[in-house]
Amino acid sequence: MPASMALPSLIMLSCIALLQFPAITESQQTGITRHYQFDIQMKNVTRLCETKSIVTVNGQFPGPKIEAREGDRLVIRVVNHVPYNISLHWHGVRQLFSAWADGPAYITQCPIQLGHSYVYNFTIVGQRGTLWWHGHISWLRATVYGPLVILPKTDVPYPFAKPYKEVPLIFGQWFKADTEAVISQALQIGAGPNISDSHTINGLPGPLYNCSAKDTFKLKVKPGKTYLLRIINAALNDELFFSIANHSLTVVEVDAVYVKPFTTETLLITPGQTTNVLLTARAEYPGANFFMKARPYSNGRPGTYDNTTVAGILEYENPYSFPPSSFNKNLPLFEPMLPSMNNTSFATNYTDKLKSLANTRYPANVPQTIDRHFFFTVGLGANPCPKNKTCQGPNGTMFSAAVNNVSFVLPKTALLQSHFTGKSSGVYTSDFPIMPLIQFNYTGIPPNNTFVTNGTKVLVIPFNTSVELVLQGTSIFGVESHPFHLHGFNFFVIGQGFGNYNPDKDPSGFNLVDPVERNTVGVPAGGWVAIRFLADNPGVWFMHCHLEAHTSWGLKMAWLVLDGSLPNQKLPPPPSDLPKC
Ligand code: C2O
Repeated sequence: MPASMALPSLIMLSCIALLQFPAITESQQTGITRHYQFDIQMKNVTRLCETKSIVTVNGQFPGPKIEAREGDRLVIRVVNHVPYNISLHWHGVRQLFSAWADGPAYITQCPIQLGHSYVYNFTIVGQRGTLWWHGHISWLRATVYGPLVILPKTDVPYPFAKPYKEVPLIFGQWFKADTEAVISQALQIGAGPNISDSHTINGLPGPLYNCSAKDTFKLKVKPGKTYLLRIINAALNDELFFSIANHSLTVVEVDAVYVKPFTTETLLITPGQTTNVLLTARAEYPGANFFMKARPYSNGRPGTYDNTTVAGILEYENPYSFPPSSFNKNLPLFEPMLPSMNNTSFATNYTDKLKSLANTRYPANVPQTIDRHFFFTVGLGANPCPKNKTCQGPNGTMFSAAVNNVSFVLPKTALLQSHFTGKSSGVYTSDFPIMPLIQFNYTGIPPNNTFVTNGTKVLVIPFNTSVELVLQGTSIFGVESHPFHLHGFNFFVIGQGFGNYNPDKDPSGFNLVDPVERNTVGVPAGGWVAIRFLADNPGVWFMHCHLEAHTSWGLKMAWLVLDGSLPNQKLPPPPSDLPKC
């Protein structure tokens, strides 16, 4: 990763910021305030022998690392110098009572226009581990992303031996083409968007692509030391397998929640997810180098996808030599074995191993009684081709995607502001279906009518509702895993299975003791997943597939969590610099 840490400037602005916000977050802020300045700038970047101008933060790609401790407040001033509207999302941050800082464009805020700025101001409450931040409008997150590292409170140790060093590994996808053009063309003609030209590790495609050997990520280690790899999947459209030759990985945390450690040769990570692993270097200098590789998991996916492999190299420092010759790139190079790209049984086995620590220090607070049950189908569908046009989606239609057959249409103004000011009419309706209006064999032969409905519908629930939600994949235009991400909450993954969810039989297999807690879960290809969460955070919270192609087609919806009755259960008013549409 390029030297990329934007140093927090601890300046007096904090006093002003504190005045703007009510006591709710002040009491939870047990740490310091850290200030960052994020200038959105164009930058020429060369990969695969071609140069293009990309949107960046501070001219860095990948973007700067944000580092904080649990209990700290982050004050991030974002200034837009580019001709694209932008907003930033702090993926996985709970944003307790700070929905205005969440970031998805047209959901919690209007985007920041050229020449304008917005200060994201929030406190990290009850979370520690690896998260990330990214652009949250159109496909700008293709290049606008970076790590968000939350260290434990001072004097609180990790629940594992302290690593010698910590290294972020952030996966992405590189397109030679302009990604805004890729998605706008796809939406015009109704086809699947053009695929990327490479996958990347820390922005680098690695030696398996033409003209790319010099752009290879190298992890340099000392024999016998343990490294914490903070792995983030920031790819636009691909779930990835990842493995390092001749080294096993111990998974210790996902989505900024500790898990029961387990060891694996390969991990699976969907866009939106993060995984912390411990890598213990061999005790003796091995006299070899080791490839680390990532490539897609993509069972039953319709159409083409980028099936290429990104590689980085693990190199050992030779304790018997002196710098600068202590690393040798001309040693034998070992290859990892990755599962085949359609290996769903690997995917299932892997996700089954993820369990919460569930001890007294880090309990798994799984809601045990449920106020509301919801059942959502998630998958692809189509819109008719407009008259006088030819479309390149299935059977001459336009590709679409929907939750309970509602393909979500982004409004022209932000939902949260409409809600807060009571001016929802003409912006959204509150009739999001709690189950499919038409039932069918979701994972069998698709129904004759594959058209979706289109609308801006939210699901309204009272403060502190305990929710159980089953996400059911559909087989319309092919089964495919959908990494679903919920803003504003973590949820517990209490069960998953293949085929259609059976409400009479499947709940008996639910894990209500130590299920994994996270913010993004893969709905199995041709299957279902059940999650639970407590709606203890008022605001409008986006939930969507984190495959950007699917999000663009409407595979998204929003929850509206009402204020509670007590003064400390209400969404504070918006900051005065909230952007206008
Ligand atoms: Cu990382 Cu709404 O997304």
